[in-house]
Amino acid sequence: EAGVFTYDPGFTSTAACDSAITYIDGGEGVLLHRGYTIGELAEKSHYLEVCYLLLYGELPTAAQMEDFESRVTNHTMIHEQMHKFFSGFRRDAHPMAIMVAVVGAMSAFYHDSIDISDPWQREVATIRLIAKMPTIAAAAYKYTIGQPMVYPRNDLDYASNFLRMCFSVPAEEYDVNPILARAMDRIFTLHADHEQNASTSTVRLASSSGANPFACIAAGIACLWGPAHGGANQACLEMLREIGTVDRIPEYIARAKDKNDPFRLMGFGHRVYKNIDPRATVLKQSADEVLELLGVENNPTLQVAKELEKAALADPYFAEKKLFPNVDFYSGIILEAMGFPTSMFTPIFALSRTIGWISQWKEMIEDPALKIGRPRQLYTGEHQRAYTNVEDRK
Ligand code: SDX
Repeated sequence: EAGVFTYDPGFTSTAACDSAITYIDGGEGVLLHRGYTIGELAEKSHYLEVCYLLLYGELPTAAQMEDFESRVTNHTMIHEQMHKFFSGFRRDAHPMAIMVAVVGAMSAFYHDSIDISDPWQREVATIRLIAKMPTIAAAAYKYTIGQPMVYPRNDLDYASNFLRMCFSVPAEEYDVNPILARAMDRIFTLHADHEQNASTSTVRLASSSGANPFACIAAGIACLWGPAHGGANQACLEMLREIGTVDRIPEYIARAKDKNDPFRLMGFGHRVYKNIDPRATVLKQSADEVLELLGVENNPTLQVAKELEKAALADPYFAEKKLFPNVDFYSGIILEAMGFPTSMFTPIFALSRTIGWISQWKEMIEDPALKIGRPRQLYTGEHQRAYTNVEDRK
């Protein structure tokens, strides 16, 4: 029966849901989006085309792509009043805190796309979320560094627009390097969707109550923030910096193997992949390209990362536990080389994953049979018992 599996003898539970969007074979390290491998999409496609594919199930014709790109481009600005939200935060607020709040607040601004029973309003909400996430993420970043927000431009592609909104200042225009824009776009593509991960399941569960899409995506952003999930890219880079030099790698490998030490190698391991995460393979190539372009191929963090990967993969413990580098292992190194602070790594993951969340939201809304039911539990608490008055308690 679809959707039901047994993972403990005698204990059955329903899988999160059926879905036709993304397929992962954790044992073989395979990731497909609507049947296309992530490797081919990262090499031959681009993020907005992958957005179209995830949403509608097929690669677009040239005319369909032009129309889709035009609709997204023309919705990249946020409501002028939304700018006021940012100034309500302390300057040292984490950009993820700002994104959770501002995306949730979109429900208060875009009433004309809240009736989720109306396909056209669902489409409007979808386009608005894809279009505005880079603007919101960039504005959150600018706010935390005390610089003025930069408005999007319609003559730039999606990734270039985001880079410019992050790094342009009134005093000096930021000329987007096409190789960096391509690397940025590839990072967006590699994080676009990933089956029923924690944040996507959060979005589906929130959506199953009929909550509006902006509130559901805000719930996904909140879940992604955790260091075991989307927060791992920030935690990974901070770990690599803490290791600092290649000679300290054995100490951290030993800690990761020590059951009494809660330390885990950030950027390693995965709930599903028990072989290489195919996204890490693409990102590793991208890291070399970007760092060479920026003339920082001798970046000490990258050297530590490469030696750490080598040491971990050569260690029988990690082979036995099937722990390989995941998508977060190299993404942080590229983003740092581009000039992003670690606090922006997870917001970029959230920006990228919005299409996965909203595609799976759309799939579920359009086929109620795919709704996640109300999860049940195995009760392990006290049996029914009578109330005792305080004077009788020991
Ligand atoms: C993402 O679900 C998705 O698809 C998520 C994601 C997506 O695109 O949405 O792919 C994005 O979240 C990637 C994962 C990013 N997280 C990290 O890099 C954080 C470090 N990784 C771990 O916290 C951990 O690997 C998890 C949470 C990702 C998976 O945890 P599990 O399910 O416990 O890992 P496992 O079952 O494969 O572990 C097997 C063993 C365990 O030891 P035993 O209990 O068998 O003795 O390996 C150990 C774990 O303790 N282990 C690690 C480890 N990860 C697992 N030991 C050291 N370092 C690690 N990183």
